[in-house]
Amino acid sequence: MSSTAPATNGHVKKLSPSAILHRTPWQPPIATSAEGIYITLDNGTRLIDAVGGAAVACIGSNHPTVTKAIKEQVDKVSYVYNMQLSNQPAEELAHYLIEASKGAFDLVGFVSGGSEAMEGVIKTARQYFYESGQPQRKNFIARELSFHGNTIATLSLAYHPTRRAPYAAILDSENFHHVSPAYAARFQKKGESEEQYVERLRKELEDKFIALGPETVVGFVAETVVGATSGVVAAPKGYFKAMKSVCDKYGALFILDEVMSGMGRMGTLHAWESYGDGVSPDLQAVAKGLGGGYAAIGAVLLSKRVADGVRDASGFWKHGHTYQANPLSCAAALAVQKVVAGENLLKNVTEVVGPLLGSLLREKLQGPGALAAPFVFDIRGGGAWYGIEWDFDSPAGANLDFGGQGFALAVQARALANGLAVMGFAGGASLDGLKGHHSMLSPAYNVTPAEIETIVDLFVRSVEEVLKAGGLQA
Ligand SMILES: Cc1ncc(COP(=O)(O)O)c(C=O)c1O
Repeated sequence: MSSTAPATNGHVKKLSPSAILHRTPWQPPIATSAEGIYITLDNGTRLIDAVGGAAVACIGSNHPTVTKAIKEQVDKVSYVYNMQLSNQPAEELAHYLIEASKGAFDLVGFVSGGSEAMEGVIKTARQYFYESGQPQRKNFIARELSFHGNTIATLSLAYHPTRRAPYAAILDSENFHHVSPAYAARFQKKGESEEQYVERLRKELEDKFIALGPETVVGFVAETVVGATSGVVAAPKGYFKAMKSVCDKYGALFILDEVMSGMGRMGTLHAWESYGDGVSPDLQAVAKGLGGGYAAIGAVLLSKRVADGVRDASGFWKHGHTYQANPLSCAAALAVQKVVAGENLLKNVTEVVGPLLGSLLREKLQGPGALAAPFVFDIRGGGAWYGIEWDFDSPAGANLDFGGQGFALAVQARALANGLAVMGFAGGASLDGLKGHHSMLSPAYNVTPAEIETIVDLFVRSVEEVLKAGGLQA
């Protein structure tokens, strides 16, 4: 790897070569300290984190309640192996999650992140049927333009052609199947009502069940609100109810991936409470907002149906990892959850900063005189999570040149250079995942209105600078 970042990165800097195999073609700048939504780099630059890393840091960094809980736990018990010993923070966190779910969940399994949580979901679903006299159930149905993790099984489950391309030859296409995404702005047909669109998707799922043999289907899996593959896309009203009805009809499981959208990101603890027709799943994965970045932790949440199935059979989870239910991770996550609840942060998200973020983005990117307006396909979201999908299909857009990289990535780099962390992706607008550049903002739940204003100003400035650099005449 070159020791100089390419010109497309906002932080061109001479660095001694890193020994880390980084995930970026450039060497990322090094963070040395952080406080709230502010991150300081080793060169002294101060960034505002408008995206919580990757929708993770839901209460910002260095919250005193959480750092205290971690320090206290490290003085008590830093590690026990979960096949020998349990620990207090893990037991307490599991109870907390069950109680907060108001009856939706009955048991919890802990893991170390989102991909592990989705692996855990796949294996728990299989264990449930294997142990309850239906071992023929082996087929999972998920959706195109989805992301469920970076392991082989979760890449097989999800579907995003460019992300899975290097591994396609070794992915499992025998047990993992796909139906259409639920993305009305791009895939609802002209003249089709919302009800008709939902019915088309419901029928497609039922047809897939029938084609596979309904008695062989383990379940249907979806992100409640789609994250990185299409940019904060909620399903049409009635969609999850309809998809669950198919699962129920054939005895399969209805499974939600709330790794990104859950634990408060949409303004409710679980995204299905506000953006999923209120339909609770049989199994659910959570991760990012669970530990808020203070710990590498994820969880599999089991409904009473699945919990009873496991309890009535082997009675234990036939799945696990060395760091599962780690005491430090659980103490950190418990403290994060207590901060979210105790400081009433979801109210701040739903009533104050979320609506402000949405309205400022719309005003400054789509409002009268907004430079970016002709290239904004859609601004959508809810809670503390917004996506902006760009479209350069018009003749004016096609003439712009962003130096060979996608617009959203160029905006991400420019924003970083302007002191703002946001995320940019390609995909969403077409099933090949190539069209539809989108930017994502997912600030901490305790961000202030003044900080939201600064975030939007810096973001819009970055967007406009990239447009002008691309040849747009102001
Ligand atoms: C919906 C969804 N599922 C799973 C994952 C994988 O989580 P992790 O990166 O923690 O392994 C992600 C990560 O972005 C995600 O957005």
